[in-house]
Amino acid sequence: MTQTAAPTDHDRLLIIDFGSQVTQLIARRLRELSVYCEIHPFNTVDEAFLADFAPKAVILSGGPASVFAEGAPRPPAKVFEMDVPILGICYGQQVMMEMLGGKVERGHNTAEFGRAYVTPADEKLPLLEGWFATEREQVWMSHGDHVSQIAPGFAVYGTSPNAPFAITADTSRNFYAVQFHPEVHHTPNGPKLYENFVRLASFEGDWTMRAYREEAVAAIREQVGDKQVICALSGGVDSSVAAALIHEAVGDQLTCVFVDHGLLRKNEAQEVVTMFRDHMNLKVIHADEVELFLGQLDGQSDPETKRKIIGSLFIDVFQKYADQIEGAEFLAQGTLYPDVIESVSFSGGPSVTIKSHHNVGGLPEKMGLKLVEPLRELFKDEVRALGHELGLPPSFIGRHPFPGPGLAIRCPGEITREKLDILREADAVYIDQIRKHGLYDDIWQAYVAILPVRTVGVMGDGRTYDFACALRAVTSVDGMTADYYPFTHEFLGETATRIINEVQGINRVTYDITSKPPGTIEWE
Ligand code: XMP
Repeated sequence: MTQTAAPTDHDRLLIIDFGSQVTQLIARRLRELSVYCEIHPFNTVDEAFLADFAPKAVILSGGPASVFAEGAPRPPAKVFEMDVPILGICYGQQVMMEMLGGKVERGHNTAEFGRAYVTPADEKLPLLEGWFATEREQVWMSHGDHVSQIAPGFAVYGTSPNAPFAITADTSRNFYAVQFHPEVHHTPNGPKLYENFVRLASFEGDWTMRAYREEAVAAIREQVGDKQVICALSGGVDSSVAAALIHEAVGDQLTCVFVDHGLLRKNEAQEVVTMFRDHMNLKVIHADEVELFLGQLDGQSDPETKRKIIGSLFIDVFQKYADQIEGAEFLAQGTLYPDVIESVSFSGGPSVTIKSHHNVGGLPEKMGLKLVEPLRELFKDEVRALGHELGLPPSFIGRHPFPGPGLAIRCPGEITREKLDILREADAVYIDQIRKHGLYDDIWQAYVAILPVRTVGVMGDGRTYDFACALRAVTSVDGMTADYYPFTHEFLGETATRIINEVQGINRVTYDITSKPPGTIEWE
């Protein structure tokens, strides 16, 4: 039996995951409605788990399997006997129909992938309140198999050309089943369907960041008692919000260590330390270890070697400072809910390592510390909302992500102090441009990379032989996939001119228009 993310007194909705790529989106749609929900893989949900979790409603997610496959994933039959509303989506719909006495057929000519239109049946369904303002509703389909006979007690409320049972329900039991994915963007009225579902299930919408703040503070006090907590503060949103929350709970029992590895952006170290130490009254150790990091990186140009050096030095340095804090028993980490959700794997086997990400994951075992992870139940947008609630400045909360290895991975080839200084200046101008044009919040991440190549230019009457740089700006939801940001030519031209005029050492500016995949967001 898996553990729930946290014991809470809130109404809980259980999402049983059958491995759909978009299951997390279901949870996000629900959290937006102030409903507390958790995702659990089907193979971890048994009767004991259901009894312990006591969901007020259940959603069966989509998934890649076919109910015909040997060992096809199924929820425990008990779920249909709990007298709670159930919504089955795509595979969840098929497995629900099959288990309740209906029939599913293989695809052949009835598969539907992508946009489809559902038309309503005569009878109205409360789940669809606010739907069908026109004769048909756009939805997103992705199915090979389809339901060919509905289970006893169900009636049809919507059909699409290839899914005669696109929307069905047994209203007496509050069971609903849809063939499409209401959680994705391409089902424009999808959020309305979730809103109706949680209303039918009598959720009170009691999951707010204001309530969460109070509960989290009480839980941290209970966990930590009178012991000391240490926290690696990076200045990123997650560690900042975690630190602010823990500080509210245990005050001076928290000490933050801000490791300055010399790979930070212009004025960054000062800004972070000033904000937390002077404005928020946190105990912050500013670990100035620039010489150590840059010394060890000297002459290294391989991306993985650089990452490994930084990762292991970071752990050593953090440990050195933490050892000075007497009685430290807890380590705070800004782990988020997406890191906690266990994923369902149908293929098995490890995935390829593209980059060894830098984090402090190995620290607790190494140092024998217990973890405090007050953001374990939250999605990124909830962390931001909590940050607002805690009074962190909006400009801080809305900052683009910044990688642990910092500018090292934006400086392909050898890292030198000269290149880092040039890079810091160019990046500051670029971000200033983006802010001035009001684009910062539309972009997921933007930065400058300094290229390991000098090019010839002409300024005034003189020849220059300076570095080239690349501007990067992407849109993304979670950093897993990304597209380049479509700046106007005017913006790009103006930015290139400003960088070349204002930053000594750069005489050529390029714009990186690679999406991810095939590229990655960072250059290394
Ligand atoms: P990539 O380059 O893999 O980056 O497409 C995806 C996102 O992750 C960030 N990134 C990191 N974040 N430690 C971090 O904390 C790392 O080692 C690291 N490497 C990349 C990157 O900035 C982007 O937001």
